[in-house]
Amino acid sequence: MTPLIDPFARPITYLRVSATDRCDFRCTYCMAEHMQFLPKKDLLTLEELDRLCSTFIRLGVEKLRITGGEPLVRRDILTFFRSISRHLESGALKELTLTTNGSQLARYAGDLAALGVRRVNVSLDTLDAAKFTAITRWGRLDQVMEGIRAAKAAGLRVKINTVALKGFNEDELFPLLDWCAGEGHDLTFIEVMPMGEMGEEMRLDQYWPLKDLRARLAERFTLTDLAERTGGPARYVRIEATGQKVGFITPLTHNFCESCNRVRVTCTGELYMCLGQEDMADLRAPLRASEGDELLEEAIRAAIAHKPKGHDFDYSRQKVAGQVSRHMSHTGG
Ligand code: GTP
Ligand code: 5AD
Ligand code: SF4
Repeated sequence: MTPLIDPFARPITYLRVSATDRCDFRCTYCMAEHMQFLPKKDLLTLEELDRLCSTFIRLGVEKLRITGGEPLVRRDILTFFRSISRHLESGALKELTLTTNGSQLARYAGDLAALGVRRVNVSLDTLDAAKFTAITRWGRLDQVMEGIRAAKAAGLRVKINTVALKGFNEDELFPLLDWCAGEGHDLTFIEVMPMGEMGEEMRLDQYWPLKDLRARLAERFTLTDLAERTGGPARYVRIEATGQKVGFITPLTHNFCESCNRVRVTCTGELYMCLGQEDMADLRAPLRASEGDELLEEAIRAAIAHKPKGHDFDYSRQKVAGQVSRHMSHTGG
């Protein structure tokens, strides 16, 4: 089987699949407060999701990340994890993981660990309960903290994803770092990307370039750049004094597209070749057109042959460029 290679000679080995567009939070940089969600009939069934992921795995995908919305609010999501975990057992899949807001982890962490999940990425922008509710609109910090504790107790490695927001969590840089060090969690900061309908002005106001954040860290600690990668876009540094690792996801200040290895599928079967572009290919029609996977495979190969070079996000010259109209929850980050 010829593996998936895009026009820029990048092997596609990482698939991110959104299991639902729904979420029990409404983070201000991700969703509007009143979102129109997709009708159920448009969603891929769990069986279709499985066929789709299994086809990608046959085509060389080794890392599968389930996203949302919030993946753990999809009904019967464990059924999907249970069935897809057969590819871990066969060795075809090297990693099965998810990105979650943590709200349902108390309930699911044990089962996920038993099914072969080793790591979870949990989104957490603040350790302050009032600020947490302000940024997520509907979230409760204590519920997420309980979820994170459950994940750790189940033996899952936890990576905290923090969107760096000027005027919001700048003052929590060191508290977040200390808390993660104390708990043994990894920590990655993300630059806020211009997605969805969030106003231009607000986005620029909130944008905290990670080179500034890094400079702030460097005032206090000696940092060493690390060569190691997890297959995602984060670049890591080590804080020499403590050995703690910190990741940076910098779509704005340092474009990492040249090493892109991933594509995304939404919960309705749209294949997005790039998070920052509008181009997509429908995989639901070929999935539903026949019981075999030949049409699906053809559609995937045809789409990968059009994977763009990268995104065009840009905040320079005091304005936002390269914005995409989709909400982040549509493609799952
Ligand atoms: P690991 O390295 O395995 O921990 O995963 P990851 O960093 O790929 O996954 P995660 O879901 O934690 O991703 C964090 C965030 O990085 C996503 O939510 C996106 O906001 C961002 N991100 C991931 N891939 C891309 C990409 O291809 N382009 C851009 N611009 N951002 C990305
Ligand atoms: N820019 C950067 N990160 C975002 N996320 C959601 N919306 C944005 C945005 N506009 C993050 C969440 C979560 C991940 C799935 O994507 O905080 O960590
Ligand atoms: Fe939900 Fe994640 Fe979007 Fe927040 S960032 S609203 S938790 S999907």
